[in-house]
This record gives sequence, C-alpha cells and structure tokens, in this order.
Amino acid sequence: CGIVGYVGGRPALDVVVEGLARLEYRGYDSAGVAVLADGKLATAKRAGKLVNLRGALAEEPPPAGTLGMGHTRWATHGPPNDRNAHPHVDCTGSVAVIHNGIIENFAELRAELAENGHGLVSDTDTEAVAHLLEEELKAGGDLAAAMRRVCRRLEGAFTLVAVHTGDPDLVVGARRNSPLVVGVGDGENFLASDVAAFIAHTRDAIELGQDQVVELRAAGVTVTDFDGRPADVTEYHVDWDVSAAEKGGYDYFMLKEIAEQPRAVADTLLGRIGADGRLHLDEMRIPDRELREVDKIIIVACGTSYHAGLIAKYAIEHWAGLPCEVELASEFRYRDPILSPATLVIAISQSGETMDALMAVRHAREQKAKLLGICNVNGSTLPRECDGVLYTHAGPEIAVASTKAFLTQLVAVYLIALYLAQVRGTKWGDEVFAMVQLLERMPEKVDKVLETMEPVRELARSLAGERCVLFLGRHVGFPVALEGALKLKELAYMHAEGFAAGELKHGPIALIEQGLPVVVVVPPRARDVLHDKIVSNIQEIRARGARTIVIAEEGDASVEPYADTLIGVPAVPTLLQPLVTTVPLQVFACELATAKGHDVDQPRNLAKSVTVE
Ligand code: G6P
Repeated sequence: CGIVGYVGGRPALDVVVEGLARLEYRGYDSAGVAVLADGKLATAKRAGKLVNLRGALAEEPPPAGTLGMGHTRWATHGPPNDRNAHPHVDCTGSVAVIHNGIIENFAELRAELAENGHGLVSDTDTEAVAHLLEEELKAGGDLAAAMRRVCRRLEGAFTLVAVHTGDPDLVVGARRNSPLVVGVGDGENFLASDVAAFIAHTRDAIELGQDQVVELRAAGVTVTDFDGRPADVTEYHVDWDVSAAEKGGYDYFMLKEIAEQPRAVADTLLGRIGADGRLHLDEMRIPDRELREVDKIIIVACGTSYHAGLIAKYAIEHWAGLPCEVELASEFRYRDPILSPATLVIAISQSGETMDALMAVRHAREQKAKLLGICNVNGSTLPRECDGVLYTHAGPEIAVASTKAFLTQLVAVYLIALYLAQVRGTKWGDEVFAMVQLLERMPEKVDKVLETMEPVRELARSLAGERCVLFLGRHVGFPVALEGALKLKELAYMHAEGFAAGELKHGPIALIEQGLPVVVVVPPRARDVLHDKIVSNIQEIRARGARTIVIAEEGDASVEPYADTLIGVPAVPTLLQPLVTTVPLQVFACELATAKGHDVDQPRNLAKSVTVE
C-alpha cells in the first residue's frame, strides 16, 4: 500500500493527493484521504484507482486544512470496495487511521472491541486500530502516547498513520516491518512509504527503524520506540530528483524504464571496475577473508528478482566454483534449509521491502548465515538487515512489472560471481578478467537491442488475440523464458509458461498445437552442443504445428529455416546473454498488453512491493 502524511503550511489535500499519485504503483485497489480543518476531520475514499477518488474530491471538496494523510490500497482483508478503503475512523469520528501490512491478532482485537460496544463497519484489520486509539485516548495522553500503547498490543507487520481532532498539529506514524520514511522540510514535514511521495518538496529524509513511533509537527519531528524512549534514526539525502519519478514524455513508466536500461546497466557498473580491470566492491562490507570461507551460496528472492537469482546460480557455479541454490523466498523458511556460518545467503529485492524476502533473511540470520542483499532502494529495510549490500543503480522503478531493475540485478549478480572468483582465486582467473571487460560493453549491446525492437512490437500486436504463449530456453535461457512468460502473465493477463527446452519431450510438448506461438531463446553459436540441442527442439515443435518465434544471435543462419519470426540480438558470451535476450521479451509483453488496452504500469491485482507475507 502507499501511505502519505503531511503537516505544514500548504493545502494538505494537494500535497497528499500528489504524493499518492506517485505511490499508486504500490497498490491501486482503492484510495482515500483524511484532512483536519478547523478542528474537524473530513475523510473521502473510493474503490478503484486514484482517479475515482480525485473525481469524488472534485465533486465534494473537503474543507481546506494544512494537515492530512492519504492511502492507496492493495487489498488484504476484505474486498476492495469503498467501505474497506482507508482511512478508517473510530466511533466518535475524531480519529482516522491508514495502514499497510497485516495485523495478525485482529480477530481477537475486533471481538474485544465489539464486547466494549464498538460498532465496526468494515472487514479490515485496520479499523480495529482506529477504535483501539479511541479507547486509549479516553484513557489519557495525546495521540502519540495512544499510538505507542496500541502498537504494543499489535501482532504482525504494520505501518500506521493516524490523525486526531484533539491534536490538530500532529500526525503520528508507527512502523513495524512495513516501510515508513520521513521527509524533512522547512516548516513542514512529510511521512510516506516511499520518498517518491515527497521528493518534489524535499530530498532530506529520515529512515524509521523497527518498532518506532514518529510524531510529525510542522515545527519538527520526534521519534521514539514503542515505550516512548527517544530512538536513534538515520538521516539521508535522496540523490535522485523528481524527474526520475516522472514519465518524461513516455506514455507509460514501463516504456521509459525499458528505454533507460543501457543507462541503468552502466550506472550499476560505475565505479566498480578499477583501471587494472579488477573489481572493487568494498561497499559490500563483507571482508574478503569471510568470502573466502564461504562454502555454499543460497539465493532467496521473489517474482522477477527470483529469475535474476536463477541466472546467478549459473554464473556463481561457473565463475566462483561454489555450490549455489536458489529458493523462492516465500518457501525458504518453511523448509529446513541447511545453513551454517559458512553459508552466504544472497537476498535479491528491487524494493527491499518484500515481506517474503525479509522473512527469509531473518530466518537465515537466526541460522547464523552471512547475509548479502542486492537491492535498488536506498534506505529500505532489506539492506539494513543484511551484513552487506550491493546496490543496483537502476533509479526509481515505478511500473509494477520489473524491467530495468531486473537487468541491473543481473549486473549485480555477475559482479558478485566474478568478485568471488577474484578473491577466491578460482581456476577461471583469465576468463574472469575477460568477462569484466565484456561487462563494461553491455550498455552498448542493450542499446543496440532497443534500436531494433520495431518488428517485435509489430509481432506483439499481431498476437494480441492469442490465448496462450509458451517460452522455451536452456541454460541461462531457461530463466529468461520464465521471465518472458511472467511478463506476459503480469501485463497481458494471458496464459504463458516458460519451460526448460530439454524438458519439452517430458510433457509440455503435448501442449503444442497448430499455430501456437512458442518463443525460443537460443544460446550463442559458440556453445555448440547446447545451441544444436535447442535447434533440434525448435524443429520438434515446428513439426507439430507451433508458430516459432526465435531469439538468437544476429547472423545465426542455422535457426533461420525453422523460425517463423527471427529476432536477432548482439553476440555476447552465454552467461551474459540474458542481458540482451530479456529485452525483446519485455518489449513484446508491454506492446501486446497495450494492444489489448491494458494499463501496463498498473496491471490488475498486482502491487510493486508486496509488504505482506
Ligand atoms: C511483486 C512485483 C514483482 C516483483 C516482486 C518482487 O510481486 O509485482 O514485479 O518482481 O514483487 O519484488 P522485489 O521488490 O522484492 O524485487
């Protein structure tokens, strides 16, 4: 969910709604605002995207006030209707609350409130908090004191923001697990789940830690723990500006983010390759000595980041010569993974806030493993919970479906695999050196791919009426196939599956029928055995009527006879090939979904960072 709070001198409604627009990628099932004006609380909320709320506010503008808050929801408890939209208010209509996360003991709390005569009107866990605050305010103290007492009773993950008519200059926020940052202005202050919400007003931010409560007034900010003791906070300066969070002439953020990939790849490499061709990853903070002791790597991640992890496995095993397992973060802690202090767990997360990934990290921490994060969002939770972090420098990624963050995650995992090879002095020494040089040329190769995407767009439009598309790949082309299928599911709501091409004959080949579009990712010619095997797979599916869409190295004549459509990508070594083969699949899914009339930035039912388990 997206959360915004404001107190200062400007009309709060404008600041809050503008902030929500920048956070809508975090959830768009419903939206709502609360404003305090002349000691009275006004709220408005609507199911659906922010545009519905804007319409309601235009029809019935709330009184102007300079303190307010807003919310965009990704539904957890109760369907996304007007009633379940946030803010939620107490019985007296004097306290309003917005919330991100899940309060696990809410059934118990609701029952207790019902017994005490509170009538709850929604199906949400959030509403219980409004009523608990009401009870605590009756018991004495201000809203911040009430919030601290309520938080001590809550189980689960939450970010809460509340306002109260009795405290007309105070916005209170609380955080356990879910993200919340403070924007520090001059005579005004902001609260948000992501700096994007207030970046147009200030780039000075404060990261809130676990179990902290913030009191936000126009004149200043106070942070305490849940017991009211002053808390340590980290202040930082956001190093990107508002234009990075705007569409800059593109129809969709996704199109802009796809186009930004050469730059993003270059930025992620920047400063990490020395003049001597050696890698410098000091910021990673895990000493080389400890990296030499690592005997196993486990990667945990979700969604697209998981696909980056699958590719990392090939790179780490090949270059660093270390055993590597890749796990869906949501499954990891529910098995009994075998970890030791010599295990390096690498958590990959664009947002750094995905709850499944955070819980996997905490589980690994309990088992005493070393922890390394790969993350795109500075100041997010995951890097703070790891021993070291390698930031990807993709810049803010706003479209829900990940593109540039994925490519930069690949760069990060290549850097880590090569760095491990460098510090461990594995047998691949010369290859490592050559690979580092080649990595530096990847922005240019990605750029070349982008220049040749018109036929891919045409193809995508021609396939908009299809019901199903299959994706095949081998080696690192297999995770690329999975990613291609995921993009199509996310954006075009089509049935799409990725398969390891070698597995085709063991089942999926039964799906092939006349005219079925099958995208095949072909490894470089230099990998002759692998290459020839997949060319045979293409022939097998074509013989059974499939329409073959082949992504292969430019000039690879051997696939031409079997390709109904051939998409050429620049020649690069096998392990680096996902950097160029993924791009046509992103463009394909984006264009196909657009042709079907879908909003590619905000696909149905999804959210960019899922902060619940
Ligand atoms: C959500 C998004 C996906 C993303 C996944 C992991 O499900 O919709 O696009 O890949 O979360 O996100 P993370 O921020 O942890 O990389």
